[in-house]
Amino acid sequence: MDHKLYIETVGCQMNVLDSELVVATLRQQGYTLTRVVGDADTILFNTCSVRQHAEDKVYSALGHLRQLKQKHPDKIIGVIGCMAQKDQQRVFSRAPYVDLVVGPGQLHQIPDLLQRIREGGGPQIQVSLGRQEGSLDVIRRSHESFDPLRDPTMRPTPWQAYLRIQIGCDKFCTYCIVPSVRGPEQGRSPSDILAEARTLADQGCLELTLLGQTVNSYRHRDGDRITSLADLLDALHTIDGIRRIKFVTNYPLDMTDNLLQAVRDLPKCAKYLHVPAQSGSDSVLRRMKRGYSVADYRDMLARIRQAIPHCAVSSDFIVGFCGESDDEFQLTLDLVEHGRFKNSFIFKYSERPGTKGAQLLRDDVPLEVKQRRNQLLLEAQNRISAEENQRLVGTVAEVLVEGPSKTAQERGHEGPILQMTGRTECDRIAVFEGNTRQAGQVLPVAIYDAHPHTLFGTIVTHERGPEVYPLA
Ligand code: SAH
Ligand code: SF4
Ligand code: F3S
Repeated sequence: MDHKLYIETVGCQMNVLDSELVVATLRQQGYTLTRVVGDADTILFNTCSVRQHAEDKVYSALGHLRQLKQKHPDKIIGVIGCMAQKDQQRVFSRAPYVDLVVGPGQLHQIPDLLQRIREGGGPQIQVSLGRQEGSLDVIRRSHESFDPLRDPTMRPTPWQAYLRIQIGCDKFCTYCIVPSVRGPEQGRSPSDILAEARTLADQGCLELTLLGQTVNSYRHRDGDRITSLADLLDALHTIDGIRRIKFVTNYPLDMTDNLLQAVRDLPKCAKYLHVPAQSGSDSVLRRMKRGYSVADYRDMLARIRQAIPHCAVSSDFIVGFCGESDDEFQLTLDLVEHGRFKNSFIFKYSERPGTKGAQLLRDDVPLEVKQRRNQLLLEAQNRISAEENQRLVGTVAEVLVEGPSKTAQERGHEGPILQMTGRTECDRIAVFEGNTRQAGQVLPVAIYDAHPHTLFGTIVTHERGPEVYPLA
């Protein structure tokens, strides 16, 4: 029977990838996608728990479906992903008309669970074990995900794909819910990763973004053989068709010289590293249990810049973490000034029940203070982003063309020439005049202007200078 699926995704790249995989499995069962919630018979929310706001958004969206479900009781509403894992049965108590709750480790069971609901089996729930609910091996297996099924139509563009190399996280930063909802850290086997990368290349994918919560901590042991991220990059680099490789998110202490050399020496590796610092204050980093000092982080930055001189670095920061004083915040501002990040994602601390932070520390920085610090840090970062982008004016960047820019899409695709967008080798957004046929190509673009988050350029058509033809 034909089914119509509506899926909404919040959260990080892991969730974007998970949604792609869920859609791929359901398509195999004859489902088609719809963007109109009212047309769907199956409505899924792929959820995130990293901040309260992300959860509120989903519960409020669910609230809007109450009436729809009353009118059409046969429509299935499902909550999947990290918040499903965190809230479990509580999802049913908060929204009793939900039919399905599935954690990130059970997504492959969704077709069967939907079937059971349709056959009258009632609400279904499948989640992984908690971090204390069994032996490490059993807990690990309960978090395993299913990656090989891919669906090119679900990607931002057909030539860019996420590829998971690691699941879970063992760092247990005190503010963070991820280790409890995504389970223990596990590196996928290199052979699975390479096979999936080849499938993606065969599907026409040019750019791979390798995903892991601490992606550079990646390790896989097979007997005596240990594979690191640098080894994986070497292997992935040999795949024909793949033109660019990125990886997120890095953990500062695991940025080995070996990895930096791989990024420097492998031409397909983007010269870009996302390495969240979270704070510029040692005392805050200690309360966060990040495991490194500001000096360690600065040392890592120096090693990156020494090994790969033009490498772009980006970061994440949390402002208003428990007990953060004005002086401690000032140190974060100092680190942003020092770091010259390409960009930073800045978040106001949001207490997560179940974390060590919530148990042991008080969320005592008032919201107005968090807001003011967020604003100040953002202003500093935006100024630096603009200055760093400005330095690229007059250079030629290699741009992987993604498609028409947002502006062009809003204006409609009239005429042969339109504003196109793409990313440089150092992960900056560049816009330029071009045509849709250029999407999926890697082209040289001369940069003539820069804003904090965008470079403006023109495609270089005569890279080696204009050719001179003899007159007949
Ligand atoms: N694994 C990645 C990031 C995971 S979550 C890493 O370790 O860097 C993405 C970002 O959300 C984090 O880097 C952090 O800046 C932010 N974050 C995590 N928990 C948060 C919380 N409780 N409140 C506010 N921001 C949070
Ligand atoms: Fe969360 Fe820290 Fe793990 Fe990142 S490293 S996912 S911030 S616990
Ligand atoms: Fe959110 Fe889960 Fe990612 S909590 S940030 S969707 S790993």
